[in-house]
This record gives sequence, C-alpha cells and structure tokens, in this order.
Amino acid sequence: MNLDDQLLKFEVPEIIYGLGALSKIGHCAKRLGGEKLLLVTDPGIIASGWIDETLKYLRQEDLNFFIYDNVVTNPRDFQVEMGAKLYLQKGCDVIVAVGGGSPIDTAKGIAILVSNYGSLSEYEGCNKITQPIPPIVCVPTTAGTGADVTQFAVITNTRKRMKMTILSRAITPDISVVDPYLLKTKPADLIAATGMDALTHAFEAYVSSLSWSMTDPHAIHAVELIARHLTSAVRSKDISDLEGMSVACLEAGIAFSNAILGAVHALAHPLGGFYDTHHGVANAVLLPAVVKRNINHSVEKYARLARAMGCDTTGMTPDQAARSVLIMIDLMIDQLGLPKKLSDLGVSREDIPAMAELARADICMLTNPCTYEISEIIDIYQEVW
Ligand SMILES: [Fe+2]
Repeated sequence: MNLDDQLLKFEVPEIIYGLGALSKIGHCAKRLGGEKLLLVTDPGIIASGWIDETLKYLRQEDLNFFIYDNVVTNPRDFQVEMGAKLYLQKGCDVIVAVGGGSPIDTAKGIAILVSNYGSLSEYEGCNKITQPIPPIVCVPTTAGTGADVTQFAVITNTRKRMKMTILSRAITPDISVVDPYLLKTKPADLIAATGMDALTHAFEAYVSSLSWSMTDPHAIHAVELIARHLTSAVRSKDISDLEGMSVACLEAGIAFSNAILGAVHALAHPLGGFYDTHHGVANAVLLPAVVKRNINHSVEKYARLARAMGCDTTGMTPDQAARSVLIMIDLMIDQLGLPKKLSDLGVSREDIPAMAELARADICMLTNPCTYEISEIIDIYQEVW
C-alpha cells in the first residue's frame, strides 16, 4: 500500500467567533498584509446594510478597498473572471468575502485566477493549484455552506451547464470571521435551506470513507446542534438559535472539508448546473433517498446519527436504529416546509440521464460509503422526481 493512502489530514482556518466579531474584519485583513482589498459580496448583502458596517471597520484600519458584487446564487465562471480582472487592475493584495457560499466561492475562484492564471476549468478536481494564492478573509452571512472553512469551491461552468468542484488545500481561507448576528437579516426560507445543507455536510462527512477521529466529533456535534436549533431559528430567529446554527455550520464545514462528502452532493450539483436550484433545497430533496440506500453500508454510523438527531433508539436492533434516521430527516423537512420532490423544483424528467452521468463523475461520489451504478443514480432521481 502507498504511504499516502494511509495518511490522514486535518486542516482548519483561524476562526474568530462571536456576536460583534465583524468589527475585527479590518484588523484581520491588515495582519495578513492587506493594504488594497478586493471586497467580494452580492447585491442582497449590500442591501442588508452589512457592507456599510464592514466598510466602517475597514476605514478604521485605513485600508483601501474595491467592491465586486457581480455575484449570484450558483456563481458563474465568467463572474469569477471579471472579479479577477478587477483584482489585477486595481493591484489588490487581500480578498475579503462577505456573504453566503456564492461570494465566498467566487472569492476563492478569483484568488486562483490571479495567481495561477488560465481558466477555472483547469483547476477542477483535486489539488491542481500549484502557485500560492492571495490571502482570503471570509465573513459568512448564512449558516450552511461552510465555505469559509473548507478547501472546496463550486463554480458553474456556463458553457457546459455544470458545476465544477475545485478541491484544494490551497483555497482554505486564512481567517473566518463568524458573527452570528449577521444571520438576523436572512429570510426564514434561506435559513431553512442552508441549514439542510449544513445537515447534509455533517451526515456525508460522518459516513465518508475518509472520516476519522478528528472529523467525527465535529460532524456529530453539528447534527446535534442542527436538531436543537434549526427549526426554531427558522421560526423566531432567536439569537441563541442563530448562534447554535453558526457553530453547527462551522463544525459541519470543518468535518466535510477534511472527510469530503458523498452521493447527496454528487447528485445535487447537476441540479444547480441545469436548473440553478438552490443547493440546500437540492440536498434536502435528495438526502432521504441516498441515506436509504447507504444505510446497509454503515449501519452503526446511521444509528449514531439518528441519536444525534434526538431519536431514542433504546431497545431497537442496530438496523431499526439506523433506519429511524429516515424518520428524523423526514420530520425535519416537514417542520421546515421544504419541498420533497424534484418536480416541485421545475426539474424535467428528460434531463435525468444526463444529470446522472455528471453525478457519477462528481468528485464527491468517491467518498460515499458505497458506489452507485448509473442505473441506481437514475433510480434515485426518479424516486424523488
Ligand atoms: Fe453543500
């Protein structure tokens, strides 16, 4: 066996956490050597007022900045290229991303292009980045993607209508500034969808073939926090629930950045590429069908996940305990009022074979606890259509 096959790794950025943490953003950028920042965000974050607040803290540190806000959900390759041009034209030195997964993934894409050049598709896959990239500071405004702590960036290849997954330790951000108060301005349906993304991260990391003793505790604790806080965060936006979701998102992100993901994400990515489906909603629709098929390959772990979701498995057989996780997931999706069918999301049945081909080739499929034939992937899409 190759030595590299036996080695495990655990990587995490510096994390500054707590109510009011946003006030540290200027200081963070400055100590990474920043003088001229590219601030990547989106119009919704600007409208919420968080960018005005951010600029106040950047000015306090006498930092220059240029704002790039041409970012949408499921960020596009050409938007990353435009951001990279602005970074180079203005002679920036540090990238600050304020927003959900889309601005953060855009920031990572910009960092790759301004230092490694070429096109983003050259970096799709595992560890293709060879040159050092500029420092990145992230301020997540959603509790879901975990992009602020991961080595993943997912960018839409507009020519091929597919999502490219770039996986490289080089793009793990340097600092994540996590201020749960920023979730206050998020609409309830977005908190629900991004929360299901975080739950899926924790589930997939926990049963991943690369999971280990450094990733498992974070995955399980994330599931416990989500079970405790997500539905009430959606209902009331109480700050204690938003804090719970912020930590859950961080821990799920740390777990999956190091253990990678599984079939739910592999099948969700084509939905984003074909239909621009919200990533968290796509995961919520697919999670039960994938878990149902994965269970036999990891019975004890799914039983542990059921308990983490609050199920009392006393007296159950291992198989019953594992299967009870399906009831817990279904209950949560009901409570959140999220869709359960792809047909509710405007997905056309005719696209299923093409999406299945992309899902089978997705990098996330490699760490699923079992492998799927193309016919089984088609069956999953059909089952939830
Ligand atoms: Fe995700």
